[in-house]
Amino acid sequence: MKKEVPVSQAKWIIEAGCVVLVTGGTMEHANVMTFSWQTPVHTSNPCIVLLVVNRIRYTYELIKQNNELVINVPGADLLEPTHLVGCVTGRGIDKFAKSGLTPVAANVVQPPLVAECAGHLECRIVEVHPVQSHDLLICEVVHASAEEEFFDGAWIPEKFHTLHYMHGTKYGLLTRRVEVGGRD
Ligand SMILES: Cc1cc2nc3c(=O)[nH]c(=O)nc-3n(C[C@H](O)[C@H](O)[C@H](O)COP(=O)(O)O)c2cc1C
Repeated sequence: MKKEVPVSQAKWIIEAGCVVLVTGGTMEHANVMTFSWQTPVHTSNPCIVLLVVNRIRYTYELIKQNNELVINVPGADLLEPTHLVGCVTGRGIDKFAKSGLTPVAANVVQPPLVAECAGHLECRIVEVHPVQSHDLLICEVVHASAEEEFFDGAWIPEKFHTLHYMHGTKYGLLTRRVEVGGRD
């Protein structure tokens, strides 16, 4: 079961620098794409996340219709669909059906959550800055939730492995915590 995470703590859902799946659009017409260019900013009120998107992405066309998006965190079990939705465009095809991912209604925003993902940041875009062929989106998190079994204020990597992009078709998995000052 997913628990609500206070928005002031929401950044810990993506702090690990993981690959995320971003949804845009509405429940009636949505699309999903993979992102590795994401970062939380250390602010808690409001919680801010940065995304860098190529302006040609179809998902971005949908995002711009309501200026809302959802950042979804997949685990290792979603490696194949995560790569797939980052390699094909949803222009003209239903990427949810093709990848086996399930859109479900979000709590606050119009784009759906990806049900199979363990964490979700529902966001509204507050600023856009052009960076050559890309846009830097400054997003305010308006609702956050995470799978309670896997998240105790941060991901528990022994139970839930986030994906980290390594180039081409290679990904890394985060599999354990180490503690500063602790013996290992
Ligand atoms: C691991 C991975 C990370 C990616 N990161 C980004 C990113 O940060 N920004 C971006 O614009 N595209 C990124 N892409 C590319 C898009 O996900 C890809 O072009 C996708 O097919 C766009 O789908 P759409 O046309 O349906 O929106 C990434 C792809 C992969 C596989």
